[in-house]
Amino acid sequence: MSHPGWQELTLETSQPHVEALEDWLFAQGAVAVTLEDNADEPLLEPGPGETPLWQQVKVVALFDEGVNLQPVIHGVPADLIEAPASAPAHVPDQDWERAWMDNFHPMRMGERLWICPSWQEPPEPDAVNIILDPGLAFGTGTHPTTALCLGELDKQVKPGMRVIDFGCGTGILAIAALKLGAGHAWGVDNDPQAIIASRQNAERNQIGAAQFGVSLPDDVDWAGLNQSADIVVANILAGPLHLLAPQLKSLLKPGGQLILAGLLADQAADLVAEYAPEVTLSVACEKEGWAILTGRSAP
Ligand SMILES: C[S@@+](CC[C@H](N)C(=O)[O-])C[C@H]1O[C@@H](n2cnc3c(N)ncnc32)[C@H](O)[C@@H]1O
Repeated sequence: MSHPGWQELTLETSQPHVEALEDWLFAQGAVAVTLEDNADEPLLEPGPGETPLWQQVKVVALFDEGVNLQPVIHGVPADLIEAPASAPAHVPDQDWERAWMDNFHPMRMGERLWICPSWQEPPEPDAVNIILDPGLAFGTGTHPTTALCLGELDKQVKPGMRVIDFGCGTGILAIAALKLGAGHAWGVDNDPQAIIASRQNAERNQIGAAQFGVSLPDDVDWAGLNQSADIVVANILAGPLHLLAPQLKSLLKPGGQLILAGLLADQAADLVAEYAPEVTLSVACEKEGWAILTGRSAP
């Protein structure tokens, strides 16, 4: 029997009251509570261990359709909210994990590449098609930083090249490099979900483990990879890109190409300085406030 659906109750609060309001809503029978920005205040790049929160927060609580919400609406402690609760909204039941699928369509990237969801037919069967299902990992190509990297790989990859994708997420960049002709790729990620997703996506694209090795950082043979890569691509964030500079530089062959993304345009100059003099980076392109840096190590 299908589920009758849910009721969604939205409350406005401020940062100091979020936790108490969440606890109170769970005590009233909420099955899930999510937080949203209530004042268009972007939170960019938290430091390690930080979980920042907006000043003005919308707290959205999900209740079973059968729960009488009138006592909840009238019983919310007044000191925890900024405005009276609005009427609850009905939310039909759906396959939550897969709801995003409706918004993920085949996308053309660069000159030759298409990213195609695994559940749709590629629109151009003769193009370089990457078949992808992100699972719980980052990297569908819809994010500007991934799109910037794909455009750059489309320009840089030559037959037989050795490519390292540092922070591989879904494996999208390594798989793209291989489909563009690279001979071998390695994917590294510190999120176990990314390792699973990358391996599954490699299989979807008929790429075997001998051609694409994927590992957690602790399992990588770093000495074996030293100065081995024609291209190192890392789409992470400016903070980790600073910390990883010695490692990323050491992976490049003399004259190898470094591609860095995940940084905002105003973070580029500091990273260029961080990677000099071994690698001479410059901004290759910008998209929606994000920049991509490319450059070669000394020959
Ligand atoms: C923005 S996603 C990029 C995913 C994919 N390469 C793309 O371009 O769409 C960054 C990935 O880097 C991983 N990551 C972050 N810091 C890392 C680190 N220090 N070492 C390895 N992976 C890291 C994250 O788990 C995440 O999967």
